[in-house]
Amino acid sequence: MKRPFTSLIESQQMVAPGVQERIFELASAYKQNPKGDCLRGKRVGMLFYEASTRTRWSFEAAVDDLGGSRISTENAREFSSATKGERLEDTIRVIAGYVDCIVLRHYEDDSSQRARDLLDSIGCKVSVINAGSGEGQHPSQAALDRFTIREELGRTEGLDIAIVGDIRRSRTARSLAYLMGRERNRIHLVSPLQLRMKSDLLGYLARHEVPVKEYRSLDDVLGIADVVYMLRTQNERPSPGMEPLTEADVLNCRMTLSRAQSVKKGGIIMHPLPIVDEIVPEVQYLPHASYFRQSDNGVPVRKALFEIMFG
Ligand code: NCD
Repeated sequence: MKRPFTSLIESQQMVAPGVQERIFELASAYKQNPKGDCLRGKRVGMLFYEASTRTRWSFEAAVDDLGGSRISTENAREFSSATKGERLEDTIRVIAGYVDCIVLRHYEDDSSQRARDLLDSIGCKVSVINAGSGEGQHPSQAALDRFTIREELGRTEGLDIAIVGDIRRSRTARSLAYLMGRERNRIHLVSPLQLRMKSDLLGYLARHEVPVKEYRSLDDVLGIADVVYMLRTQNERPSPGMEPLTEADVLNCRMTLSRAQSVKKGGIIMHPLPIVDEIVPEVQYLPHASYFRQSDNGVPVRKALFEIMFG
């Protein structure tokens, strides 16, 4: 089978028929049998300019289990030549000389695309995986989110998916909406006014005739959502001119124990993590709190992505 992609920059690349099924099958197989060899003889560079626990560790665990080797920079903003003023493009060009794949987390929305464009411009085939680009995208997270939905609900079509909280600045929410919106799902957006989904993505969903509704309180969607996808407020990404959140804004988007118990029967609660205070800790013990199973799925799903790109 022809590779559907050799770099993963945005989740729209995984919308093509068959790709999601392949990810599901491969990731399920890796859950049963964690070892593989599709990265044997390959070196992966982890270039992380922003904090990460799950994403970097799960990519690293995946590389190890697939027989690859890796070089990691977990705080590239301070430790790489970025401190000396080097442009991202130059760093990418240098690192591409040492590795077969660059897993990039960066604070600018277009960083992974710029890395890909630079490598294309010099005819370099080294792969790029976007592991989170500013307020832009986080496609491998969307892949593991979709996998989790499929595992927990048995289907990924015709669902009511509520996304709750700081939708404006969450790249995970953007990547999920791009991916799940194309599978005849209905998207319910719950956020304070100033943290609404950006207009480019609303426009994309409208063009693809994805039903989208907006709300201000979590209470409005508990009875309808099959998936309640919670988000933290991304305070580290200041939005100039944005009105500060009121206490009511925060409370409207908080998953309390009683709200969690009111989620529609069969519905699940997800979160890309880290949780700050938007879900109270007691919720994790409810059987339909799926977020730690979701983070566990990071390793097998990232293995599936490597297999598709290198297998
Ligand atoms: C997310 C991210 O970095 O975008 N975390 C993750 O990768 N699981 C979400 C977040 O930081 O809120």
